[in-house]
Amino acid sequence: MNLLINALFPVGNAAGWCKTVDEVRNLARSAAEVIVVGSITVPERSGNPGNTFAIPLNSLGLPNMGIEKLKEIGPEMVRIAHEAGKKIILSIAGFDPKEYRQMARAAQEMGFDGIEINLGCPNVADGGKRKPIASLDLRLTEEIVGLSSSAVKMHDPDFFVSVKMSPMSNPLQIIDTAELLAHCNIDAIVTQNTFPNALLFNEDGTPTIQTPDKTGWAGFAGSAVKPMALGQVNQWRKALDSFGASSIEVWGVGGVETGKDVRDMIWAGASVIQVGTAYFTYGPKIFSDIGEQYLSL
Ligand SMILES: Cc1cc2nc3c(=O)[nH]c(=O)nc-3n(C[C@H](O)[C@H](O)[C@H](O)COP(=O)(O)O)c2cc1C
Repeated sequence: MNLLINALFPVGNAAGWCKTVDEVRNLARSAAEVIVVGSITVPERSGNPGNTFAIPLNSLGLPNMGIEKLKEIGPEMVRIAHEAGKKIILSIAGFDPKEYRQMARAAQEMGFDGIEINLGCPNVADGGKRKPIASLDLRLTEEIVGLSSSAVKMHDPDFFVSVKMSPMSNPLQIIDTAELLAHCNIDAIVTQNTFPNALLFNEDGTPTIQTPDKTGWAGFAGSAVKPMALGQVNQWRKALDSFGASSIEVWGVGGVETGKDVRDMIWAGASVIQVGTAYFTYGPKIFSDIGEQYLSL
């Protein structure tokens, strides 16, 4: 299913910056066409301690209210978005395939228009040890996407299902994963989540970002990742087409902050574009700024 059919300006926020009713309200009033809430997990998470965000790096560790608290405010978020004529998607994350399935169904029951299955978070640790990035594991990807998609599509075949990926430096990995996902019942690939395990230092030689495993390895995002994101979008588009899956959209995210960036993403093959770091930096006004620039190109 195409979520934003005929949208003149197919742009919205990237996951990570909208987790409250007020944030949904701000986005509903903005020029963003589609709102992404989350990522949300089954249990509430406080996130990683310490200094975990300094552009362009972050290691937040998925702080969020958890599914039970979201159930209290999710329907209100949906109402606000729909009254503004916007689509609203829930970004879901989990630590085993069954949690993803549970989150997917909860999103549908709350009235969200779709889910973004976050398989690309590099910053989650348990007991000091990092969790693997699911989208870099074919078997795990197949299991999570299969369970989540069937849980919602059996109730409504038009319920929108997208899958958010980690950037892949091995071109063959994109082809193998596209071949797998071409046969899954999904509507879009979202690329890319932050580039994993980047590192910067403070003046005293300590890592800029504090992480539970003390490495300082953090997710990399913002304007510098734009060429990488364009390359990922273009490779995904071509790979999906080659497996006869042209109906699966590719949504582009990574380093977008101007109208020209949106146009480049569309040239690369993106159907919808998401703005992360620039939205955090400039607030909801970024969408009308980018929109004016894009429409005047
Ligand atoms: C502080 C921060 C928090 C993020 N949280 C999430 C998240 O909860 N779920 C998710 O799928 N991606 C998350 N991301 C990744 C962004 O959605 C986006 O994929 C990435 O930042 C690249 O886009 P950008 O260059 O426009 O920031 C986060 C990124 C940052 C920097």
